[in-house]
Amino acid sequence: MKFFIDTANIEQIRQAQNMGILDGVTTNPSLMAKEGVKGKEEIFEHYRTICGIVDGPVSAEVFSTDYEGMIREGEELASIDPKITVKLPCTKDGIRAVKYFSSKGIATNCTLVFSVGQALLAAKAGATFVSPFIGRLDDISEDGVALVEHIVKVYRTYGFKTQVLAASIRHTNHIIRCLDAGADVATCPLKAIEGLLNHPLTDKGLEIFVKDAAKMQ
Ligand code: G3P
Repeated sequence: MKFFIDTANIEQIRQAQNMGILDGVTTNPSLMAKEGVKGKEEIFEHYRTICGIVDGPVSAEVFSTDYEGMIREGEELASIDPKITVKLPCTKDGIRAVKYFSSKGIATNCTLVFSVGQALLAAKAGATFVSPFIGRLDDISEDGVALVEHIVKVYRTYGFKTQVLAASIRHTNHIIRCLDAGADVATCPLKAIEGLLNHPLTDKGLEIFVKDAAKMQ
C-alpha cells in the first residue's frame, strides 16, 4: 500500500519525505486555505514547492464545479509539473472531466466518493485514483472502511485499473484497516502515519538497550 500525506503544509510534507516513506501528496481546497495561500500565483507557487519536495504524484483540486471551468483549471494545474494529478469531484461534470483528462493521458483523482456506484463511474471514466472518504462516512455512523473493501472487490472482479486511494483518514487504526481492505493507497495526516511507530515495548526495550550500551563505553 502506498502512503500519501494529506496536507498542504510544507513542513509536514518535508518531515514525511525525510522519513523516507512518502509516495505522494493529496491536497484539497480546505487544506490549501489552511496554509493561507491566496490567488492563482501563490497557489501555483505552493504546488511547485510541494512538487519539488516529493518524488510521487501531487493531487491538486480544481475549484470550479462546471465542466468548462474544470477543464480550464485542470489544464493549468497539469501544466505546473508532471507530478500533478488533477483532482475532480465525483459529479456529472466531474466524471466528464475525468474522461477528458484520462483520454489525454493526464492523471486524475476522482474525489468526494461515498458509494460504490460513484466509484464505478470514476473507474469507467478512466480515473487514475478514486478517493472514498472514510472518516466522513464514519462521522455519519456508516462504515468507511467497508466502502473501501467493496470498491476494491468490484475493481478486482472487473479488472479496473483505477487505484483505490483511501482518504479522510483520521487516525492510525484507519491505516491498518485500509491495509486489510486492500487499498492501493492511503492518504493520511502526518500524526496518523507517526502513530504507526508507537509501541510501549519498543520504548521500554530501547531504554534497556541504551542503559546496557552505556555500560560498555
Ligand atoms: O483527502 C480528503 C481529506 O482531506 C478529507 O479529510 O478529515 O476533512 O474528512 P477530512
